[in-house]
Amino acid sequence: MHSRIYFDHSATTPLDPRVLTAMGPFLGGAFGNPSSLHQEGRLAREAIQTARAQVASLIGAAPEEIIFTGSGTEADNLALRGVLERWGPERGRHLVVSAVEHEAVLATADALAGAGRAELTVVGCDRSGRVDPAEVAAAIRPDTVLVSVMLANNEIGTVEDVASIAGAVRARNPRALVHTDAVQALGRLPLGLDALGVDLISLSAHKAYGPQGVGALVARHGVFPAAQLTGGGQERGRRSGTENVAGVAGFGVAADLADRRRETDVAGLVNLTGRLTNLLTAIPGVEPTGDRTRRLPGLCSFVVAGCRSDLLLAVLDELGVCASAGSACSSGAPVPSHVLAAMGFGELSGCALRLALGRSTTEADVDVAAARVERAVSRIRSAGSAAGSAAAAAAG
Ligand SMILES: Cc1ncc(COP(=O)(O)O)c(C=O)c1O
Repeated sequence: MHSRIYFDHSATTPLDPRVLTAMGPFLGGAFGNPSSLHQEGRLAREAIQTARAQVASLIGAAPEEIIFTGSGTEADNLALRGVLERWGPERGRHLVVSAVEHEAVLATADALAGAGRAELTVVGCDRSGRVDPAEVAAAIRPDTVLVSVMLANNEIGTVEDVASIAGAVRARNPRALVHTDAVQALGRLPLGLDALGVDLISLSAHKAYGPQGVGALVARHGVFPAAQLTGGGQERGRRSGTENVAGVAGFGVAADLADRRRETDVAGLVNLTGRLTNLLTAIPGVEPTGDRTRRLPGLCSFVVAGCRSDLLLAVLDELGVCASAGSACSSGAPVPSHVLAAMGFGELSGCALRLALGRSTTEADVDVAAARVERAVSRIRSAGSAAGSAAAAAAG
């Protein structure tokens, strides 16, 4: 039996014990509904208010600008659908997104366009996954209602120049709103609403040692995305449904920790990322992907010639390494990465490997994981060449 090494922190992170402690009361005795007027309800309401202030402080936003949601995916949906519904009739129905967005944005934009509710422009990227602000600006029209470009890519770790993109968009059309999906950036990059210059930011707690199933959309004053869930009017009418009090309380503490620990966490991650990248690129046919300088600390991404992602991940799992191809495919089916395809990787788009490090990762983990990747790669390649020779012998 191999010891297991968790290198999938971009998929989800373990709960920080302080987060679990903060959630505990709301999973037990403190079960009041935050909308209730009695003392138990007030206690739950106060927990949500505290968390709202913690998330707002991380972003440099006002507490009223935070809308808690059930996930990062829901936050992305609320941004796109809510802005289009609220502002489309007045400003236009043109949406601009980048080709490297997470499926939560891309599939939503496609669905809106497919239903005839939006006109969509998808802006490409270069070989390192960078989206050029000038190209985004060139796509802006008088009827552009929303531009959505992510801050940090979940598959290849490239950090987009969102501030320049937002500036370029506004120079072309000051009425166009700008959204960024910052789900991967929480706890690893600075997240100031003003510094980024955007109108909307999507977040998710479970990428930063918080619980799964809770996210937030930060929407600047005056943006008012139309509610996509209507009912009891929670979240100031912007997202109805009884709140996930434990989850929201946990998110608040995770946001607070992310803010306070970011510099220390990042310093450790940068060293380990460099070490792992050097070890893996020493294996023939392993090429790092994503921008080499503007990158998310801790996310190491590669293409591995001759190794289909699904096979490589299965062998790595057997060898005790939890890794991923990078995309958020929940079906488990091997789908070539749309991000690598947009970057021009062609056939290698089906050969992605992502190793995402976290707070608890050590140098020893990195060295062991690198040795196991080398073993997995040579096992798959020799099985492939054996199958190739058998096929050639049968054909000949
Ligand atoms: C960039 C990005 N956006 C959105 C999401 C979706 O977040 P959630 O898992 O909270 O729905 C993810 C999750 O992988 C992500 O990486």
